[in-house]
Amino acid sequence: AADLKQLTDEITRLKQQRNAIILSHVYQPPEIQEIADLVGDSLELSRRAAATEASVIVFCGVHFMAESAAILSPQKTVLLPEVQAGCPMADTITAEALRAKKAELPGAQVVCYVNTSAEVKAECDIACTSANAVQVVASLPADRPVLFVPDKNLGRYVAKQSGRKMHIWDGCCHIHDRLTAGDVLKVKSLHPQALVLVHPECRPEVVELADHVASTTGMLRFAGEKPAGEYIVCTEKGILHQFNKQYPGKKFYPASDKLVCRDMQSTTLEKVLKALQTLEPQVTVAGEIRERALQCLERMLAV
Ligand code: 13P
Ligand code: SF4
Repeated sequence: AADLKQLTDEITRLKQQRNAIILSHVYQPPEIQEIADLVGDSLELSRRAAATEASVIVFCGVHFMAESAAILSPQKTVLLPEVQAGCPMADTITAEALRAKKAELPGAQVVCYVNTSAEVKAECDIACTSANAVQVVASLPADRPVLFVPDKNLGRYVAKQSGRKMHIWDGCCHIHDRLTAGDVLKVKSLHPQALVLVHPECRPEVVELADHVASTTGMLRFAGEKPAGEYIVCTEKGILHQFNKQYPGKKFYPASDKLVCRDMQSTTLEKVLKALQTLEPQVTVAGEIRERALQCLERMLAV
């Protein structure tokens, strides 16, 4: 505990000295969420990264998130404490494979989930997160086809909600996609009164069991607004820290112990401190890729 206090004190001191801000995704380990200036979903984090006055952004999340921050705030130093933290879903599509697909669908408007590399965003018309995907697709002209990449589960959900026919890439988040309807029903049988909160990266069979489908922040908001006292949470387990912290009088059950993203869990306080000491590892996006990816992100932020 003394070590922990020393570490967090030193992080706080250096953070001020460097004029840095610490952003944390809700899937990060509890001790990382506790030292962050903002804990949020992908959309909130990219909004804050675009608006902050800080000179240094320490991004406690995965690579594509730090990249988005670097695209939106090129004059700032963007640090990713664990440089290896990636997103296996983002890796299911490359710019080259996307260009080949686009050649098969002339005139298509390409929507990318933010969980993609800067190179992929540079090939797309508009980005979305799980919080605004339905609105983003609904904002597109109806007379041209839509290609949605790379999450097939989110893509199917958005197609259903918006009533739009879409071409959908065959990628997914292997963590969310691992969760089955059987897993959820098992927890539901133990807690029959609990409401089921589902992230749209889950399979359609799981989405069908939902009382509410939402982004991570959307789930937190819903649990705050509803009188219900028990919830089954169908998304990465790191979010349970925020549920328990924000609503100590309510009960939250993970839908499965399998819901762990190793990339998200790889940030540590030691790595955050080291990043602030050394100003490494930095994530940068330059040149034409940045300019094109910026347009893609800015169109999303304007919706
Ligand atoms: P949101 O925070 O946008 O709900 O995204 C979940 C996710 O998987 C991020 O990697
Ligand atoms: Fe990527 Fe899934 Fe991990 Fe989110 S939870 S970072 S989508 S692998």
